[in-house]
This record gives sequence, C-alpha cells and structure tokens, in this order.
Amino acid sequence: MARKFFVGGNYKMNPATKSAADGLVKLLNEAQVKGDVDIVVAPPALYLLPIRDALKTQHVQVSAQNCYLKDSGAFTGEISPAQLADAGIPYVILGHSERRTIFHESSEFVAQKTRAALDKGLTIILCVGETLAEREAGKTTAVVQSQLEPVVKLLQESEWNKIVIAYEPVWAIGTGKVATSQQAQETHAEVRAWLAKSVSSKVAQETRIIYGGSVTGASCRELAAQPDVDGFLVGGASLKPEFVDICNAQA
Ligand code: G3H
Repeated sequence: MARKFFVGGNYKMNPATKSAADGLVKLLNEAQVKGDVDIVVAPPALYLLPIRDALKTQHVQVSAQNCYLKDSGAFTGEISPAQLADAGIPYVILGHSERRTIFHESSEFVAQKTRAALDKGLTIILCVGETLAEREAGKTTAVVQSQLEPVVKLLQESEWNKIVIAYEPVWAIGTGKVATSQQAQETHAEVRAWLAKSVSSKVAQETRIIYGGSVTGASCRELAAQPDVDGFLVGGASLKPEFVDICNAQA
C-alpha cells in the first residue's frame, strides 16, 4: 500500500499576532496543492479554533502542538486529549524535542500521552530524534529506538494507523543544517526495519515516517524522493510562502 505524503507545519510559539496568523491562513487558502497530500498545521492553542474555522480548503487540517494525559482537572496550563477531540481537532504533536529538552518530557511520559490521545481518537505526530553528540557517538539508531519502545509497549498493532512518526534530528532543528537525503533515508529505513521487528511488517510498511529539521523549499524535493521519507514536519518554513512548495514536494 502506498503511503500518502504528509506535510505538517509546526508553527511553535508563532506567529506573534493574530493578524500574522490570518496571513498564514490566507496563504493556505490560496495555495495550489497539486498532489495527493495530507497537510496539517499546528498553530499555538490560542489560534487552533480560529484557524481551523477560517480554513476554506479541505486539503488542510489542524493539529495541537501538545496535550496532557488526563481528561480534565487541576493541571494549570495544560490542554487535554478529550478537549481536543471535543473541539474537533484531529491531530496532536507529541514528543517534540523542544518538549523533551526544555520541558523535560521523558519517552515514557510521551508514550502515556500518546496512549491517552489515541483513546480519544486523535492522530499523533510522534517526534523522535537524536542530538548531535548522540549522532557523533554512533547512537542515532539506539536513541530513536529507545524513544519509540515505550510507545510500542502501549499500543495495539491496529492503532498504528493513527501514528505518524516524525524523525527530527535535534541538531537540524532551527539550525539551517538540514540532514542530507542519505542521512534521512538511512534513519527512516532503520526505523521501518525496527517497526517490522518490534510490531509487524504491515505496520512497518504502512506507517508514515516524515522528516523534520530545517526543511526548506530548496531542500524538500531531494528529501521527498527518498523511498522511506513520507513527508515533512516543517518549523520555520511553515511560516513562509515556501511552505506551499514543500507541500508540493512530491507532486
Ligand atoms: O517541528 C518542526 C521541527 O522542529 C523543525 O523545525 O524546520 O524550524 O528546523 P525547523
């Protein structure tokens, strides 16, 4: 089964104003999307509903950038999978390296949140990736597998169709230093082989593994041509017109 190309735009804590957010919606509404591609943008929680409601294109859906694991309660500053589901938000990003590093989220915690989000019917963009020191020490595969292992333990095989794995080497995020297509392909192929061993060959073949880390309009086509690169999770460039070129990288 061919894996449908997937492009996520992670706005992170951007843009700084609602009027700038309106500009991003305009860009998406006017975009000429050519191929068969799932496009998902993840604005800050404050803008999720206004952006979702202002989108006039069926090509684009919205995602939260994070969620907690409880349905409701005294968890100041958090948003729950139940609330996202109730609001009709279909996706959530979990395990982004900025959450793992700045907010000290462990792989076990990310797995628990993945479980909770799945229980509410959300689709998860699950981020994994190694630091530069880990890559240079030859630990890329071990690190990525250790991040995925707790998730594998909590999921049924049939639930993997609600997971998109985003391989995001930390050293490539926001640095302008994009992984080479060979580096991305190699790690994606390793993740797929590991999924075959740890879950099933069906899940390995069908799960989308997307790349994130300084993807631009200039670098996206070569990356998209790799057999195990099924799309992108884009940060900085998702705030620019070139995001449309990235959405069309495989067209
Ligand atoms: O979630 C997106 C990644 O962190 C990539 O961000 O494209 O700005 O490097 P970037």
